[in-house]
Amino acid sequence: MKKRAQFATRLGVIATTVGSAVGLGNIWRFPFEAGAHGGGAFLLIDLFFIFVVGVPVVCAEFIIGRHTGSNVRGAFRALTPNKAWGAIGYLGLFASVMILSFYSVVAGWTMEYVYQSLSGFGGVSSVEGLHGRFDSFATSDWRPLGWTIAFLFINYVILSRGVEKGIEKMSNVMMPLLFVILIVFCVNSITMPAAGKGLRFLFSPDFSEISPKVVLSAMGQAFFSLSLGLGCLITYSSYFKRDTPLLRTAGVMASLDTLVAVLAGVIIFPAVFTFGMEPAAGPKLVFEILPSIFSRMPLSMMWSTLFFLLLFLASLSSTISMSEICIAYLTDEHGMSRRKATIINIATAMILGGLCALSFGSLGDFTICGMTLFNLFDYVSSNILLPVGGMAISIFVGWVLDKSIVRRELTPTNCSAISRLMVASVIFCLRYVAPVCIALVFIYGLL
Ligand code: PFF
Repeated sequence: MKKRAQFATRLGVIATTVGSAVGLGNIWRFPFEAGAHGGGAFLLIDLFFIFVVGVPVVCAEFIIGRHTGSNVRGAFRALTPNKAWGAIGYLGLFASVMILSFYSVVAGWTMEYVYQSLSGFGGVSSVEGLHGRFDSFATSDWRPLGWTIAFLFINYVILSRGVEKGIEKMSNVMMPLLFVILIVFCVNSITMPAAGKGLRFLFSPDFSEISPKVVLSAMGQAFFSLSLGLGCLITYSSYFKRDTPLLRTAGVMASLDTLVAVLAGVIIFPAVFTFGMEPAAGPKLVFEILPSIFSRMPLSMMWSTLFFLLLFLASLSSTISMSEICIAYLTDEHGMSRRKATIINIATAMILGGLCALSFGSLGDFTICGMTLFNLFDYVSSNILLPVGGMAISIFVGWVLDKSIVRRELTPTNCSAISRLMVASVIFCLRYVAPVCIALVFIYGLL
């Protein structure tokens, strides 16, 4: 068997897994979902799902991936003769293409906004003017479509050249820079006139806002944000080394991921209330608010360009991890060349992503179950497919997989009493907490 590629350094492992997790999910999706679902109440439930359900399931994916050193489909085949479990692999492949499609549309918006920032938003600086610009862009069909295709083409170029070098190097530089710039914007936002109102909206939960729908959305957000439930982390951990500490990597990844989402909330909500916007404005929220924030900062063009460039790069490191699921599957299982596998993955996403891009314009009236294609892809993948995948993975590792494999993979070499306790808690969560919580949310949220 050919030797599998590996991430070169421990920093590389963290930076690439965080690179997959941190992206539009934190900076674009979290604020608009929290805005639409009660702010603080949503954040609280999201945190529960990230740390109590998410981290153990991240560990489960890591265990499967590193132990088998294989793609999603091959991993289950290697671990069990029972074909039914293999369905998890197919579900993951399907979800990854769905997410890649609508995600690329928003990543395309970030490219348009780099361009708009460089051109000073055509000299427009009023809040109303900037909001109007987003609407006229998103409904214009050709421009969003063009950017979606351009974004996916960039993915193609990077992906067809192989995993380790490019992604690892890019993430090592980009992630720290993204943190620094987010902190600068936070400082700017908390000096805004309605900062108190915005921060209260985000941090003080109003329990009367909690409903089955809010819980379902917060669970979906947690899975989406952690890149969880579709085998992305199985695929990435198949490139981990034997001495990569799985539990610690999962903890660091979840903490940094959450931090970025919270920072994004701290940037957005003070501005939402200062500019008199609706927190429930939906997918356009962040793209309307951010330029307004930048326009009142000194050196606005520089900040705005830098921010959208970083957001674009953060999206790129996430989409690369999504595509890797399919590419590893097609190359390992069907013996395809990397180039051919990449073409199939990206071409499919271009067709579906193109349709999603038009959802804001000429396909705006085409709805299924009351949702445009873009919203449908987002809803079905995040709120249904990822949690179903996560539940199946937790049951598999908690109940089916040989306990000695689970313990061996999770237990670090210099094992203390605390780490033994942590390992036991993770196993407990995988067996009972995660499957029961996810099942309950489905029963209440979807009925
Ligand atoms: N976690 C990414 C984000 O928050 O932007 C999105 C994502 C990446 C979802 C990779 C799924 C995935 F496989």
